[in-house]
Amino acid sequence: MIARLRSKHHQHTVAWCLFLALTIPTLTVAQSAILSARSVHHPVTGYGGMVASQEKLATQAGVQVLREGGNAVDAAVTIGFTLAVTLPRAGNIGGGGFMLVYLADQKQTIAINYREKSPAASHRDLFLDENGNADAKKSRYSPVASGVPGTVYGLCEALEKYGTIPLQRALQPAIDLAKEGFIVTPFLANGLKSAKKRMSQSPAAKAVFYKNKGSLYSIGEKLIQIDLAHTLQLIADQGPAGFYQGETSDKLVLYMQNNGGLITHDDLLNYRPSHRKPISAFYRGHRIVTMPPPSSGMTMLHILKLLETFPLEKYGQNSAQSIHLLAEACRLAYSDRAEFLGDPDHWSVPLDYLLSEKYIKQRRNLIDPEQATLSKNVSSSRQSIPYESPETTHFSVIDRFGNAVANTYTLNFSYGAHRMAPGTGFLLNNEMDDFVSKPGSPNGFGLLGGDANAIRAGKRMASSMSPTIIFQPNGKLYFITGSPGGSRIITTVTQLISNVIDHKMNIAEASHAPRVHHQWFPDLLRIEKGLSPDTLKLLEQRGHRLSLQSSMGSTQSILTLDGKLFQGCSDPRRRNALTLPSSIRSN
Ligand code: GLY
Repeated sequence: MIARLRSKHHQHTVAWCLFLALTIPTLTVAQSAILSARSVHHPVTGYGGMVASQEKLATQAGVQVLREGGNAVDAAVTIGFTLAVTLPRAGNIGGGGFMLVYLADQKQTIAINYREKSPAASHRDLFLDENGNADAKKSRYSPVASGVPGTVYGLCEALEKYGTIPLQRALQPAIDLAKEGFIVTPFLANGLKSAKKRMSQSPAAKAVFYKNKGSLYSIGEKLIQIDLAHTLQLIADQGPAGFYQGETSDKLVLYMQNNGGLITHDDLLNYRPSHRKPISAFYRGHRIVTMPPPSSGMTMLHILKLLETFPLEKYGQNSAQSIHLLAEACRLAYSDRAEFLGDPDHWSVPLDYLLSEKYIKQRRNLIDPEQATLSKNVSSSRQSIPYESPETTHFSVIDRFGNAVANTYTLNFSYGAHRMAPGTGFLLNNEMDDFVSKPGSPNGFGLLGGDANAIRAGKRMASSMSPTIIFQPNGKLYFITGSPGGSRIITTVTQLISNVIDHKMNIAEASHAPRVHHQWFPDLLRIEKGLSPDTLKLLEQRGHRLSLQSSMGSTQSILTLDGKLFQGCSDPRRRNALTLPSSIRSN
């Protein structure tokens, strides 16, 4: 019997190997990865479009729109509003972000910058105390910490320009989930527990996120957000006017007036997203399209261009040599970012120069292939405070027509400023902390710049968010990705791209692989668990100071070679994320 079973198993294996041998030579590397018996990690696969987001109810809401015939923008806007209800730590209508839209029929990518703006009353010294020192409490947790929110305008405008469904339809899942409630997961319960002390200082936030007398919601209970449902309904009825004018704006401005905040009716009335040309560069024949400043897409492109001449494939994924070169490239690119990144409407970012062949070559020549450079010997002597919140969230959508949306948005910190204007139901961002409070100071926030990122009225603060779309050398859409993670966003996205392009990993392998991070200052090579001890020893021998910390990023990625079959992966690093195809059938 056993012999018969073995022989049957043998026949099956032979047939499978024969199938692979016959088919794989005709498939590209990425296609073969789906069939590869060598893969330990497998992507979600399916047809008719795909959604990847950090929260499962939002993914389901987006996929439902695709199944009803909606396009990628319809699904993305639906997801954006749904996350504002189901992922309150980062999903939002009180924050801002960046959206890349690829329109397949026009072969064109549009960049929508709906980053928050500083209120008209803000100024360079806004967060300096009486001794002239940066006051982090004020820039992070006070009513002055909030920039003018951009999410509602950004999502509404994307839908109006590129979507096909009514705004009411896009908002319906969010309104229903807010009104009827949804089940509190362990992830949400833990998040609210951690945020309780700060959030309890805002009576409106406390009333929404905690039960009577401020007790915690238990796992499995329902979180209902009646005020948020009402605010969302006003947006569904009136578009941006339902948020930036009328009832909601009155409540927000009254709160600002009563609490010493800066946002006025005029700030809200004057807010508009800006439509930009995306920036792009070729990496080993693949066009990488990403957000222009004040996003950090330029730094991601900068790192890839510095690495392009090194044979990373030969060195191997996460080998000591590959990690060393990545760390050195990051050290250089992050120092330029600190110096030059700011809002191009207020500061001239020398983008063309930074990405020019001449400059890249000059900087690449500074990389010692054998030894780590000291960060203090690279560029400016400015120091940095090593903190950018790892919150923020990204979602990716591709539809059956080949349109794609890569969107990253945020409140900045987890739960933003932890404050809420009474009756509005949404949390306020603390994005003003992404400006440099004291430019040029050794104690300042040099990580995101000197003068380039100083506070100025009506300016957008620099950001690490880098939603990105990658095209195959033949010009066809290849994959889309993005991540939260503060300053780690840039290195996370860079490694995911390199893992697919250099190391021919499928999108799940590329997402799951351990990550590293270097950001110039602090002069540390941050690592995740999972790298070989031998590799770590080699890195130390080259002079890298290693620091094992929490995991980095939460990529949401979708890959397609032919626009029919989709492979996606929601990073396993954060719980509750989900990738779903529109259909599991090809017809
Ligand atoms: N607040 C995080 C970022 O914009 O990158």
